[in-house]
Amino acid sequence: MQTVKVDLGERSYDIVIDAGILSGIGERMKEFRFSPKTAIVSNPTVFKLYGDAVMNSIRNAGFECFSVIIPDGEIYKNYNQTYQILTEFLKNKLDRNSCVIALGGGVIGDITGFAASIYMRGIHFIQVPTTLLSQVDSSVGGKTGVNHESGKNMIGTFYQPKLVWIDIDTLKTLPKRELLCGIAEIIKYGVIWDEELFESLEKNRDAILTLDADRLTHIIKRSCGIKAEVVSKDERESGLRAILNYGHTVGHAVETGTGYSKFLHGEAVAIGMHIEARLSEITGLMDTKQVSEIKALIDSYGLPSELPEGLNADNLIPHMMLDKKTEAGEMKFILPEKIGTVSIRKGINIEDITKALSKGR
Ligand SMILES: NC(=O)c1ccc[n+]([C@@H]2O[C@H](COP(=O)([O-])OP(=O)(O)OC[C@H]3O[C@@H](n4cnc5c(N)ncnc54)[C@H](O)[C@@H]3O)[C@@H](O)[C@H]2O)c1
Repeated sequence: MQTVKVDLGERSYDIVIDAGILSGIGERMKEFRFSPKTAIVSNPTVFKLYGDAVMNSIRNAGFECFSVIIPDGEIYKNYNQTYQILTEFLKNKLDRNSCVIALGGGVIGDITGFAASIYMRGIHFIQVPTTLLSQVDSSVGGKTGVNHESGKNMIGTFYQPKLVWIDIDTLKTLPKRELLCGIAEIIKYGVIWDEELFESLEKNRDAILTLDADRLTHIIKRSCGIKAEVVSKDERESGLRAILNYGHTVGHAVETGTGYSKFLHGEAVAIGMHIEARLSEITGLMDTKQVSEIKALIDSYGLPSELPEGLNADNLIPHMMLDKKTEAGEMKFILPEKIGTVSIRKGINIEDITKALSKGR
C-alpha cells in the first residue's frame, strides 16, 4: 500500500494507492470517528460495478450506509442535481459529523465534494476515484463544484476531503478512451515538474497500457505526489497552482470550439499541451527537439496532438480571451522551458499565439 500525504495543516489528508483495496475502506474509516450514518454518492455505471464492495465494507465496519445515485454524465454536474443530493442527505438525516463517499470519476467527485461542503456548512467527505483522471487529478486538491449554463465549474468551493482511496483495480473496467485522458494529465505532470516521470511514460508505455500494477502505481503515486506538493504550497491558486493548467488554455478553447462533443477533456488537453509547447518554441523558451519529444509521447499513446480541421486561431482566440485564466484581456499561458520545468507567462503577443495555432495546418 502506497501513501502520499497532502500537507495542509489541520486539513491534511492521505492519498492511499493500491490494487484491491476497495473492500478495506470501511476499516480505514473507523479511525476518523465519523457519525454512524454515511452516504455513498455514485452513478449507475460505477455503482453497479463497485457499489456493493464499498457499501458492504462500510456496513461491516459498523456504519449505516445509504446510496444516492445520480445519472451518469457531465451534464448532470449541475446545481439541480446538487439540490437532489442535499435533499437525500436531509431525508436520511446525515448529521454534522457524518461522512459522504464519492464513488466514481471526476464528475461524481466534484459534485459530491461540493454538496458535502455546503450541507450543514460542511460535513466530511472521502474520495474513491475510479477513473485514471480522477485518481491523478480531480480527487486531489480540494476543488469542488458544478457547471452553470454559462460556463464549466462556475459554482464551487475549495473543500478538502478527509481521505483519497485509490484502488487501481477499478481501472480494469474503464473504457480505453477514458484511461488515455488520465494519461494526458500524467504527461502534463511530467512536463511541468518531473522529467523522470516523463521518461517513465516513454519507457513503460506497453506495461502502462496493459495496466501493469507496479507501473500504474508508480505513475499514479508520482502524479498525486506532484499535485499534493503544488497544492500544499498554493491551495487557492494564487500563484504556483496555475502551472497545473498547462495545456488547458488551448485545451478549454478546443473543447468550447467543438461544442464539448468531439473531444474528451484529456484529449483536448493533449492537443493544448502540444500547441502550448509550440508557443514556447516560437517565443524562444524551449528547443524544437523537446517540443518534438512532447508531441511524440502524446502521439505514442494514441492521443490527439493537432487541431482538427475547422479549428484555427480565428475561432480559438476569442474563446481563449473568455477563459477564466485571462485577466484584463491578457491571456495567461503555462509554457514549458524544458521537460520538467515550466513558467507562467502573460503578455505573449497575438502573432506568436496565432503562429502556434497555425503551424502544421
Ligand atoms: N476538481 C478538480 O480539480 C478537477 C480536475 C480535473 C477535472 N475535473 C472534473 O472531472 C470531470 C471529468 O472526470 P472524469 O474524466 O473522471 O469523467 P467522468 O466522471 O465523467 O467519468 C467518465 C466515464 O467513466 C465512467 N466510469 C468511471 N469509473 C469507471 C470504471 N472504473 N469503470 C467503468 N466506467 C467508469 C463514468 O461513469 C463516466 O461515464 C469533469 O467534470 C472535470 O471538470 C475536476
